[in-house]
Amino acid sequence: MNDQDQTGPPEPTQPEPLSRRERPTRRAVLGAAAIGGITAVGAGACAWAGGWLPSDRLTPAKFADRFEQLSGVHDGFRRNHAKGVSASGTFVSNGAGVELSSAAVFASGSTPVTARFSLSGGLPTVADANATTRGFAVLFHLNNGEQWRTAMVNLPVFLDSVPRGFYDRVLATAPVPATGQPDPAKVAAFLAAYPETARAMALVKKTPPASDFSNSTFRGLNAFYFTNRAGKSIPVRWSVVPEDAFRPGSKDPRTDHDYLFNALIERVRSGPVRWRLMITLGAPGDPTHDATLPWPANRPRIDVGTLTIDALQTEEAGNARDVNFDPLILPQGISPSDDPLLNARSAVYAKSYRRRTREAHQPSKVDVQEVEATHDH
Ligand code: HEM
Repeated sequence: MNDQDQTGPPEPTQPEPLSRRERPTRRAVLGAAAIGGITAVGAGACAWAGGWLPSDRLTPAKFADRFEQLSGVHDGFRRNHAKGVSASGTFVSNGAGVELSSAAVFASGSTPVTARFSLSGGLPTVADANATTRGFAVLFHLNNGEQWRTAMVNLPVFLDSVPRGFYDRVLATAPVPATGQPDPAKVAAFLAAYPETARAMALVKKTPPASDFSNSTFRGLNAFYFTNRAGKSIPVRWSVVPEDAFRPGSKDPRTDHDYLFNALIERVRSGPVRWRLMITLGAPGDPTHDATLPWPANRPRIDVGTLTIDALQTEEAGNARDVNFDPLILPQGISPSDDPLLNARSAVYAKSYRRRTREAHQPSKVDVQEVEATHDH
């Protein structure tokens, strides 16, 4: 918990800080071999200049401190989405995305991916629970050397429209020791100050979680722009929709501490898991700056290809453990919107990454070999 961690592992890219007026697009032309070392220190600098930090100075370090305040410091683990497992597979484009974006990932053909499944929160040993937000982060290794990184969740909208809302919410909704529940007065005061979160929570309630990771839809939630070869730009949001049939998750408390991850490990062992990558096209006037606001349900959704996960790996050096799924690492043809969460995410993920990569790593709670061995007996 300190503000001194301004340096981290060596950076392969150190972009110039951007002026306040410039958009924060980062173009990543990064060798696949560099996967372990890449972070987004530069993006942190962009975020400062991009002005997401209001005058009372909500800094990336304070954000990382807040996660530590709530969950403790767990050396080597992410400050949020700490519990997770690494994954790998392939994205096969069907060519339909070419009209929308010049990104090489949409040309017909196949792109390897490094991915990670996770649960939200800063506790790497947290018990799996139906209502806990699930994450699916994907790094596409484009064959021209670029990368596209996206971290998606299984919610229909995000709960906060501005970084400060997230920062205040995680504290206001934290369980208090006396009851094990959030303090209702604090929650009420928070929701009065951030009515958009109350509206987003109502939408989340209407979208029950799936039984498993493998049959969950995951959404990028923040808006971006796609630009095609003719220079035409369009606002988009993306999601991945599972081929496995939806079954609602049970609300009953589970005795099996790791049931979601165990089921995922068994599912991938039985065969590849597939999702369709769907691009939702925004229309003029659709909000791009606020991830709590859904777009109208009738917006076109284009199926641009199939994302297949065919292997999982216990988190360790060189796999997704050491990737920073910075949402501003984008290939040419995809650029950020005016959503203020994007700069904040980039800067805070970089801070979390710098802290965790300077600490000694502890073994992950999700051990793929162990689960497989247990199942074999
Ligand atoms: C101000 C807004 C947000 C903040 C401050 C924040 C913070 C964080 C932090 C600190 C991490 C750990 C990063 C690392 O150490 O690599 C993280 C991971 C993650 N976040 Fe966020 N987050 C925000 C918004 C979002 C949104 C809008 C989404 C989904 C659309 C999201 C999805 C995820 C996922 C899936 C991970 C895990 C990625 C992985 O496996 O490495 N977050 N977040």
